[in-house]
Amino acid sequence: MRGIVLAGGLGSRLWPITKVTSKQLLPVYDKPMIYYPISLLMAAGIREFSIITTRKDSEDFKFLLGDGSKWGVSFEFLCQDAPKGLPDAFNLVDKSKLNDGSVLILGDNLFYGSQIAQKVMQLLNRPDSAIFGYLVNDVSFFGSFELDSDGAITKLIEKVSSGRGFAIPGIYKFDSTVMSYVKDLIPSKRGELEITDLLKCYLLENRLSYQILDRGTAWLDTGTVENLNQAAELIRVIQTRQGMLIGSPDEVALRSGLISPADFEKLLDGYGESEYAKSLLNVLSGYEN
Ligand code: DAU
Repeated sequence: MRGIVLAGGLGSRLWPITKVTSKQLLPVYDKPMIYYPISLLMAAGIREFSIITTRKDSEDFKFLLGDGSKWGVSFEFLCQDAPKGLPDAFNLVDKSKLNDGSVLILGDNLFYGSQIAQKVMQLLNRPDSAIFGYLVNDVSFFGSFELDSDGAITKLIEKVSSGRGFAIPGIYKFDSTVMSYVKDLIPSKRGELEITDLLKCYLLENRLSYQILDRGTAWLDTGTVENLNQAAELIRVIQTRQGMLIGSPDEVALRSGLISPADFEKLLDGYGESEYAKSLLNVLSGYEN
């Protein structure tokens, strides 16, 4: 199964911070934002990635991430010329790479909590198409769904309703038929292909399922200054309290056996004398003991 990381977009809600740099390269405490979605998918077993960026930022992403081999995975970088919407990602990836299904993750969504990688694995093992649901006080900032009394999805809504309800976090599992729906999608009033419209195609055929992310999981969208700072603070508090890393592809690569401890030690050189390097050193000593 292919992992598709959406790291394009203008980041206009974060201007002027994102005038020069891509949003997904901004720091969330001690590491770039894109480390979090990549490490989560790696922990859930994904090994082949397509990373979608703007043309302007593409070289920066390549410089940061390389071809993935340092983490025992493979990255291809694809440029999106304009932010045409989340499903547009599928127009960029070679069709033959979607034969085993795919998982689309938004480069600005962070997940943290006990067993989160296992929960993502369960999502990926579902048939057809699958999403998470996350109870929030105000769904109007997100895609959301409504349920009938039997717990079946009756409605998918993109940023319209307000009030408490199930928001759809930015991680979506699709089967190999996704392109047959994407090709018929038309842009919404805001001029984008909408992920909820794609999910509606599956829902119409009873091929969409969901899994609720419980209160033990933190889901953060880092799309606004407030949310970005909250996410950094959450990561800082948990990491300093527990002395453990959150969202480190280096650590996931080691713990998943994708690289050896010797390879891991070489990675440390690339991080200089940073706090992040010190945290990785702790991972290594804990791993070897
Ligand atoms: O965060 C979850 C929400 O993400 C979902 O609940 C919504 O259904 C979904 O539409 C999306 O809403 P956002 O308003 O947060 O999407 P945004 O435009 O901020 O884009 C999300 C990420 O995808 C962001 O990292 C930029 C990237 N992106 C976005 C677009 C529209 C691209 O790479 N290309 C694009 O064309």
